Amino acid sequence: MDLGIKDKVALVTASSGGMGRNIAHALAAEGAHVVLFARSADKLEAAAAEIAATHGVRALAVAGDMLVPADVLRLAQTIQSEFGGLDILVLNTGRAPNPLRATLQETEEARWQEAYRNQLWSVIQVANQMLPLMTERGWGRIVAITSASVKQPMPHHSLSTVFRSGVTAYVRHLANEVGAHGITANCVAPALIDTSHRVGAAAYTPEQMQARKKMTPLGRMGQQAEVCGVVAFLASSQAGFVTGSTVAVEGGMVGSLF
Ligand SMILES: NC(=O)c1ccc[n+]([C@@H]2O[C@H](COP(=O)([O-])OP(=O)(O)OC[C@H]3O[C@@H](n4cnc5c(N)ncnc54)[C@H](OP(=O)(O)O)[C@@H]3O)[C@@H](O)[C@H]2O)c1
Repeated sequence: MDLGIKDKVALVTASSGGMGRNIAHALAAEGAHVVLFARSADKLEAAAAEIAATHGVRALAVAGDMLVPADVLRLAQTIQSEFGGLDILVLNTGRAPNPLRATLQETEEARWQEAYRNQLWSVIQVANQMLPLMTERGWGRIVAITSASVKQPMPHHSLSTVFRSGVTAYVRHLANEVGAHGITANCVAPALIDTSHRVGAAAYTPEQMQARKKMTPLGRMGQQAEVCGVVAFLASSQAGFVTGSTVAVEGGMVGSLF
């Protein structure tokens, strides 16, 4: 299926590795030009070069921090000068503070502040700067990566769940306001996605990993490509009447009917 996004301009934040980089690949495979944004300039340049060589699109690396206003402003200015605007905005972020803890142990204000800034404020700050680049084009797609924890809170995830629920609410508000400009805004809520790319930084022990596989009827972890496909679909022309929604990618872990 042709997703109808050839030559659209897409920004994927937090894209020097992991899910963000894979999402950028997936959009580029559909012919979109991509802008990558994260703090590690070397990794970002390598990812952009690989995407351009693999998919024959423009891939621009802009090194910066989603939490630093001047970096995000520079990102917006660069997209405006290089591409004249933005069509697709994928709001991916870094992870909640490590180590993961039970909620009763989450008593440090510094960790809550860090989680708020990393999970929620980063998204709002980037959206604030990017929306003016999108609204004039009369077509657009916003996709935020949240977590299935917003529907079924998972153990040790309160620092994520609390603020990703905030992202969910923020995106719903955005959907109401940007629809008049032909822009949709949705969330993709993953869980149990294989993160073995994070060498030496795995959030779970092998025992916890085995237990997690049993949390889904499919009895396995999800693959990054299975998240990327859903993001690419929500960014497509065919998804034009889907807005304000959250699409779960969690292998059926959440047991509710809706
Ligand atoms: N795996 C799952 O099942 C699952 C479920 C729910 C949600 N998620 C979420 O999905 C997201 C992606 O997961 P992942 O496994 O790909 O994570 P990851 O491998 O840790 O990658 C995170 C990315 O975020 C970038 N980043 C971190 N802080 C940043 C900042 N302040 N400004 C700009 N970029 C920043 C990092 O690059 P630099 O260090 O170069 O900046 C990196 O590219 C995470 O938020 C994760 O919590 C995952």
